[in-house]
Amino acid sequence: MFKILAIFGATGKQEISIIDHVLNDSELSRQYKIRAITRDFTSAKAKLLQDKVEVVHGAILNRPSVETALTGVHAVFIMTASFLSPDVEGQISSSALPSIYELSGGKYVKVTGFDIKAKAEQYIWGLPVPSAFCSLGSFVENFESYSYLTPRKEEDVNSVRDTGKFVGAILAEPDKFDGKTLCDATKLYSLQEMIAIVSKATGKDITYKHISPDEFRKRLKLPDSVVDMFMEMITFLDETEYFGPNTENLVAWSANNARGKLSTLEEYLEAHPLRLE
Ligand SMILES: NC(=O)c1ccc[n+]([C@@H]2O[C@H](COP(=O)([O-])OP(=O)(O)OC[C@H]3O[C@@H](n4cnc5c(N)ncnc54)[C@H](OP(=O)(O)O)[C@@H]3O)[C@@H](O)[C@H]2O)c1
Repeated sequence: MFKILAIFGATGKQEISIIDHVLNDSELSRQYKIRAITRDFTSAKAKLLQDKVEVVHGAILNRPSVETALTGVHAVFIMTASFLSPDVEGQISSSALPSIYELSGGKYVKVTGFDIKAKAEQYIWGLPVPSAFCSLGSFVENFESYSYLTPRKEEDVNSVRDTGKFVGAILAEPDKFDGKTLCDATKLYSLQEMIAIVSKATGKDITYKHISPDEFRKRLKLPDSVVDMFMEMITFLDETEYFGPNTENLVAWSANNARGKLSTLEEYLEAHPLRLE
């Protein structure tokens, strides 16, 4: 008998990575039947999904639609997106981030995208259901989608995210990961390592140039509130580590538990050559 795995925001990149992972994993595909939940099942992306899995309508802030979509469901994946209120319910696995407010001892208050996800995580931990979290590292796709790194447009990005390999591990052994957070990253790359890898991949001699916060701020062609948030995030990451003081061990443990080989930066750049101007 199949267990139904409901996936919210099913047309998203992380979500499609999970869907593909489960469908292609001989053990998980025998255990789980996917119910893809999307706000608009008439969209082109939702239509593509219909060829592979059951697709139903559901919007997280529309309670009746969520209740209908979750009927008979055994497990749920929710990306606790920064635009959601903390008042969301989860049952097994969720994509989250650490609270920069908490990790910085209240020094940084504007990185609300991280803090709201951490609040949702606390809420879900308090529910009487088994749950586990995936806290994602920085996406390699940022090289292509962030305008201050490269002139490419977001639409050009062809994602190869490994989210499915981490969520797949949780789905395969839910008891092992109940109450745990996987810090999803292949490994920690130092700035020097990244520069060497990008130089090799592009054939260009790339060097590191430190610029002042003011200069960096000017390069972010974004609304002031977003720039303020971004500056606090970058400054925090400059002072400490992404997942807090135990980052190295957390990443190594999570990578060891991933279900399948994780992609490296070198492999990503080989598959998605960077266009530098
Ligand atoms: N960039 C990084 O380095 C990094 C690192 C760690 C974490 N993150 C986090 O990753 C997330 C983005 O991941 P992604 O690019 O995979 O997401 P995404 O593809 O932009 O969105 C995922 C899905 O969420 C649903 N959605 C979008 N806007 C919504 C809204 N306003 N209300 C309700 N549902 C909405 C959509 O699904 P439907 O239309 O099908 O409903 C969408 O396909 C962000 O929350 C970010 O904080 C990013």
